Amino acid sequence: MPTIERALIETLPKAELHMHLEGSLEADLLFGLAGRNGVSLRWSSEAALREAYRFSSLQDFLDVYYAGLAVLLTEQDFFDMTWAYLERVHADRVLHAEVFVSPQAHTRRGVAFEAMFEGIAAALAQAHDRFGMTGGVLLGLQRQWSEEDAFAMIEQARPVADRVLGLGLGGPELPHPPAKFVRAFERARDLGWKTCAHAGEEGPASYVADVVDLLRVDRVDHGVRCEDDPALVERLADLQVPLTVCPLSNVELKVFPSMREHNLARLLRAGVKVTINSDDPSYFGGYMNANFEASATALDLSRSDVVQLARNGFEAAFLPEAERVRHLAQLDAWVAASAAP
Ligand code: ADE
Ligand code: ZN
Repeated sequence: MPTIERALIETLPKAELHMHLEGSLEADLLFGLAGRNGVSLRWSSEAALREAYRFSSLQDFLDVYYAGLAVLLTEQDFFDMTWAYLERVHADRVLHAEVFVSPQAHTRRGVAFEAMFEGIAAALAQAHDRFGMTGGVLLGLQRQWSEEDAFAMIEQARPVADRVLGLGLGGPELPHPPAKFVRAFERARDLGWKTCAHAGEEGPASYVADVVDLLRVDRVDHGVRCEDDPALVERLADLQVPLTVCPLSNVELKVFPSMREHNLARLLRAGVKVTINSDDPSYFGGYMNANFEASATALDLSRSDVVQLARNGFEAAFLPEAERVRHLAQLDAWVAASAAP
């Protein structure tokens, strides 16, 4: 089957399920917020910051990413960051966006949880009003910090628990196995939250198995190293546990040496519920369409592969059924309109 034409990807309806808001801060907005808040940065200019976007590992990236957070202080800052992302991906025909934020990285610096949360929520509400976009907030624990810290974050979120979509787990994967967070994930489920966790990005296949078996997640973020364990791949396919894969991120962080060596297409063919996402779009060279296009080109994805990836995104979304049906109808309409004559 021929590779899908790039122009078709632009209008394909999409759901984004794995994107860290702090990783959507473009250099110009980051410097704009630094100026507004009187924060001095370790980079002398936007160009110098962009020069730092050459990473040899996840930790290498996280060092730059954490340093940039210093510019985020007020509710307005969180609104501006979130709105810039939502407006940008509306242009990529994202109909549904679930956004990660790492509350601990902000509250530790003295930012109030409420200011962070309300700024993000207001931007999501505006995207719903203006674009009909659906979405929600995923609170990402940082795995390098303690279980006690995780409980404290969940406690801070309790007043807005019914406006939180789910709990996630990110930060440096090695050497932080998932088991430390079993009770935190139980508490999240008690609050009615969905759950997901980063695993198998730099960490081994056993971490992927652990987030499924111990943390009992609804989705795995990345998960690509599951391939080191063929029995696990089979189990993920049987259970239809979604993987939120981030192709450009994986190449930038050297999880794969090049896009042609990415295992996304192999996992798709093995029946795993793979989705495409951008992770930290301002740092890794692109938003949703760029991730779809780079994957389609390098891996010779056909139109039906790409439709399956988009469909998986809506099926894996933490969405009420009525909205899932509404979005899938848009995808079906795209398939009908784009069918070859
Ligand atoms: N936080 C932001 N991006 C991340 C990634 N790719 N892996 C783990 N934690 C992250
Ligand atoms: Zn991530």
